[in-house]
Amino acid sequence: MVKAILPMRLQDICVTKSKKPILTDINLEIGVSGFTIVLGPNGAGKTTLLRTMHGLDRTSAGTIEWLGQNNDIRKRQAFVFQTPIVMRRSVIDNLAYPLLLNNIAKSLALDMAKKRAISIGLGQALEQNAGYLSGGEKQKLALARALIINPEILFLDEPTTNLDGAATREIEDMLLKAFNNGTRVIMTTHDIGQARRLATDILFIYRGRLHETSSATAFFENSKTPESRAFLNGDIVE
Ligand SMILES: Nc1ncnc2c1ncn2[C@@H]1O[C@H](COP(=O)(O)OP(=O)(O)OP(=O)(O)O)[C@@H](O)[C@H]1O
Ligand SMILES: [Mg+2]
Repeated sequence: MVKAILPMRLQDICVTKSKKPILTDINLEIGVSGFTIVLGPNGAGKTTLLRTMHGLDRTSAGTIEWLGQNNDIRKRQAFVFQTPIVMRRSVIDNLAYPLLLNNIAKSLALDMAKKRAISIGLGQALEQNAGYLSGGEKQKLALARALIINPEILFLDEPTTNLDGAATREIEDMLLKAFNNGTRVIMTTHDIGQARRLATDILFIYRGRLHETSSATAFFENSKTPESRAFLNGDIVE
């Protein structure tokens, strides 16, 4: 049986790269539900925080505790990057791949992949090489592939930065649907409007530290620190 992996807890997490401190003393609990948006200026450490939680970046101090056991922890998470990553194989193969890795029978996997492709508007492109899709289509595919295994937690690092309004709306709709179906979401963005549309709570990162944590409503109506207020006002915050 699949075990739950949330909540997860970061205790006194530090990350250094090339001997430079990138994240310092991060203490944070990620509960079972929520749509967390990570905000902060360029270079603050947002990407590093997500990569560290997902196990892609090594910590130099501190502990990360998940509820579940080791085997489940990797399988129950997914990560979507700013530049969509798709395999140079057909659309349907891209979607079926994670299912096959999870030991789902091939005919069922292909059937589920086909349905998912249709639901994201790629029903006419099932056999097309995903490498030739547009940027927006690739990102929809990358997200659908991440979601097809129903991850308990989904990390996204600026998933719509390179997309136009229509593609962004489609991605946001997919994310809200996943969230409403119980997927825990942790996402970075530089788009404040997007953060307002999606977030239930905000982590504001500043100079490698967790500067402010807040419900989305409180953050947007009455943020606590001069740095986050300046950031929301569109001032230059370094
Ligand atoms: N391999 C590395 N060696 C040295 N410094 C690094 C390395 N990788 C990242 N950094 C530094 O870590 C800091 C945080 O980077 P990170 O990508 O996490 O920031 P970010 O908040 O995601 O920024 P952005 O908004 O531009 O995406 C930056 O100052 C960056 O230059
Ligand atoms: Mg980043």
